[in-house]
Amino acid sequence: MRKNNVPANARAKLLQSAKKGMKNAHAPYSKFRVGAAILLSNGRVFSGCNVENASYGMTNCAERTAIFSAVAELGPKIEIRAVSVVNDHGVPSSPCGACRQVIYEFGPDATIFYPGPEGPRQAHITELLPEGFRLQ
Ligand code: THU
Repeated sequence: MRKNNVPANARAKLLQSAKKGMKNAHAPYSKFRVGAAILLSNGRVFSGCNVENASYGMTNCAERTAIFSAVAELGPKIEIRAVSVVNDHGVPSSPCGACRQVIYEFGPDATIFYPGPEGPRQAHITELLPEGFRLQ
């Protein structure tokens, strides 16, 4: 398994950005606020939050909000090096399946930091999403 090393200071900065992003969450239905931040290979960091909707299925997860913000600003040639995800319940929450696929699109070698059952965890995207889909 490939290991993509992210220096401790970059990881800490990413965590801070995810926490900051979480403050903007729109989560009146689940009351589960999520923040995410992505580190790009060019060093840029983008954050996002979950944005819920009265029509529940229209909800956008924090991870995808961060990724779509980066694409909107920089275009599609971004490369995600790392992702940090946090929630305001202090419970385990790795990226959902849909977000794993979106992370894989722009970060096939990304490392994901997230709260696990026994505290902070990290995993390579291909550990979370084996055989991610790609159109060749
Ligand atoms: N959520 C995220 O933002 N990211 C995930 O990876 C999992 C779930 C949000 C969606 C919804 O607003 C709330 O968490 C509860 O499912």
